[in-house]
Amino acid sequence: VKLLRVDASIRTDGSTSRSLADAAERAWTAAHPDAEVVRRDLGAHPLPSLWLDACAAAGVPDTDRTLAQRRGVALAGELVDELLEADAYVLAVPLYNFGVPQQVKQWIDLIICDPRANDVNVPLLPGRPALLLQARGGSYAPGTPRAGWDHATPYLRRILEDVWGLDVVVIDAELTAAQLNPAMADLRGIAEESAGRAHAAAADHAARIVERVLAGAASS
Ligand SMILES: Cc1cc2nc3c(=O)[nH]c(=O)nc-3n(C[C@H](O)[C@H](O)[C@H](O)COP(=O)(O)O)c2cc1C
Repeated sequence: VKLLRVDASIRTDGSTSRSLADAAERAWTAAHPDAEVVRRDLGAHPLPSLWLDACAAAGVPDTDRTLAQRRGVALAGELVDELLEADAYVLAVPLYNFGVPQQVKQWIDLIICDPRANDVNVPLLPGRPALLLQARGGSYAPGTPRAGWDHATPYLRRILEDVWGLDVVVIDAELTAAQLNPAMADLRGIAEESAGRAHAAAADHAARIVERVLAGAASS
């Protein structure tokens, strides 16, 4: 069984989303030591900007495509192959500027360029399990001054659940900026609780997902 882990933080040290994904990965491999983990690190290795070329290639015969169009089409195909070859998914995504990191948008847009993924009525990954692990510096919970400013969660749910058909569990660590920002010092206790809960939930759900995938593999 294969887990695809996608990271997106531009930080490699001190990243909460990466540490949540580490907790999930540890639980996954502890539950099934032979399980394979494939990694796509969009933060450390952003995808090349080939989305426009991949889109422009649609309808152009292969022999007439530019080199960039062929590279874009090949990359979109590789990303879709990677998704289809996995049994479960861990996506670790920080909130940047009230939305998804642009490297995550680029990944999603390239995937949707591939002919296997561009019909919104035909989900690419129906019923497969996924963990969406999110980290954000602040909090946009109901009742907070900027409630509703988190545009990443609704967008990612729309794509992962409604477009790709994944069965998604969302786990959030909020107020991560409290550790560094003196103006948020009062919120450190709440931030630590949020991180602790998120780590425990990431490990717990990862272990459940591996059981579910193994049970499915055994019955098919
Ligand atoms: C470029 C940039 C933009 C950010 N924008 C937001 C934001 O709009 N809202 C927010 O709550 N936190 C924001 N943050 C804080 C991050 O969401 C927070 O540091 C989070 O923990 C990042 O994930 P990581 O710990 O995995 O690196 C931003 C951070 C960076 C670097």
